[in-house]
Amino acid sequence: MSISAVILAAGKGTRMKSALPKVLHPLAGKPLLGHVYDTAGMLQAEQVVIVYGHGGETLLESCKHFDALWIEQKEQLGTGHAVIQTLQHLKDENRVLVLYGDVPLITPETLNRLLEVDEERIGLLTVVLDNPTGYGRILKEGDEVTGIVEEKDASDEQRLISEVNTGILCCKASVLKNLLAKIDNDNSQGEYYLTDIFALARKESIGIDVVQAADSHEVEGVNTRRQLAELERAYQIREANRLMDAGVTLMDPARIDIRGKAEVENDVTIDVNVVMEGEISIGKGSVIGPNCHLVNCKIGRNVEIKSNCVLEDCFIDDGCVVGPFARLRPEAHLAENARVGNFVEIKKSNIGKGSKVNHLSYIGDTDMGSNVNIGAGTITCNYDGANKHKTIIGNDVFVGSDTQLVAPVTVGDGATVGAGTTITKNVDNDVLTISRVPQKTIKDWTRPVKKK
Ligand code: UD1
Ligand code: MG
Repeated sequence: MSISAVILAAGKGTRMKSALPKVLHPLAGKPLLGHVYDTAGMLQAEQVVIVYGHGGETLLESCKHFDALWIEQKEQLGTGHAVIQTLQHLKDENRVLVLYGDVPLITPETLNRLLEVDEERIGLLTVVLDNPTGYGRILKEGDEVTGIVEEKDASDEQRLISEVNTGILCCKASVLKNLLAKIDNDNSQGEYYLTDIFALARKESIGIDVVQAADSHEVEGVNTRRQLAELERAYQIREANRLMDAGVTLMDPARIDIRGKAEVENDVTIDVNVVMEGEISIGKGSVIGPNCHLVNCKIGRNVEIKSNCVLEDCFIDDGCVVGPFARLRPEAHLAENARVGNFVEIKKSNIGKGSKVNHLSYIGDTDMGSNVNIGAGTITCNYDGANKHKTIIGNDVFVGSDTQLVAPVTVGDGATVGAGTTITKNVDNDVLTISRVPQKTIKDWTRPVKKK
């Protein structure tokens, strides 16, 4: 049976105190709603329907890449009313899975357990909480669910029930249509409650099966920034555990942040305060030092990234050593065993096998061969104020310290450039090139003194 995922996201999110719609607040670098949408995708939902209300334009603009049907709920008259807005777009024979845009950590595993419920019955996801305050309580006779009562409508006795409604359910569309046609708003909040379908189902002898979520974080919603921060930590611990289970050493699993997709091979060691964003891959045996910020990086095997590096959109092949305090900008590519040291910035450049740029340099728009040594303070002058130009450095080149290479320029294989040189013309293979103002000494010179 095909699945229609209906995601409720019309709530205002007043308690976030934010101009940004609640479901667009990021968790692990991705909007809350994006997490739920991606989870629906993992279940191969045939159709995703999103009910929105507040912040409509911003929401549609931010999520325009979603393959979803957006339904506006102009007035928020309750969860039942929200689902009713979608009914005409749902095929009778489909299975409807109701999800929430502000409940980001629900897993496909738990939802699959819910979807295992017999298709003719209603599947209800519940959770047992130490403190059930605020939630709808599950009413049962023996094992049979007889209904759900909202906190505000519950008796003192009912409020003692610790099994609560997560709001997540699955139900055949035809059944949902039939039951939702019969709900009213005769309750303390004057809302159309989705939860009323359970008591109605019982009247019509439609079976209800309960599935319990094991981990309460999975079903928790975000209403405040504190809750957002709590779920962020829960997510990060989940990711840290995933890495450790795959054979990665984390010096402290509480001090790593993954905001994207990290594929890390076994026997990698990651020190504290490493932030990874976008798509990251790290090969076996590599070591990432403390305080590194990695954004979209492909890092090979046995690489050492020393502390305090900022690496973005770059490729680092096996055996390289980078940092401390190195910055690799987009399209930096270090071939095997290359070394990039402290206070070095590399942009849109290839650093050949075994080449070294160890101290205080800027290398931009450069193609560098293998076994090159770049001395401290070398600058490729790649920008003339209007255009960028290329520097080409052959194999086995030695560039002395404090050299400027004014692009476009080529330095041939095996060439040596003396320290302090400004290269403005191409350099042949295997020659020594040097440009220095001759040193002079002035003997009868007195240093100025401060006027009294
Ligand atoms: C709801 C459930 C409650 C459950 C709790 C779990 C009902 C009547 N109650 O209560 O049993 O324990 O969730 O968190 O369903 N929404 C809309 N349109 C509306 C109203 C709500 O899209 O008109 C969305 C909200 O954006 C939110 C979600 O539905 O994401 C839940 O709404 P909320 O008002 O928070 O329901 P609760 O009172 O918490
Ligand atoms: Mg709520």
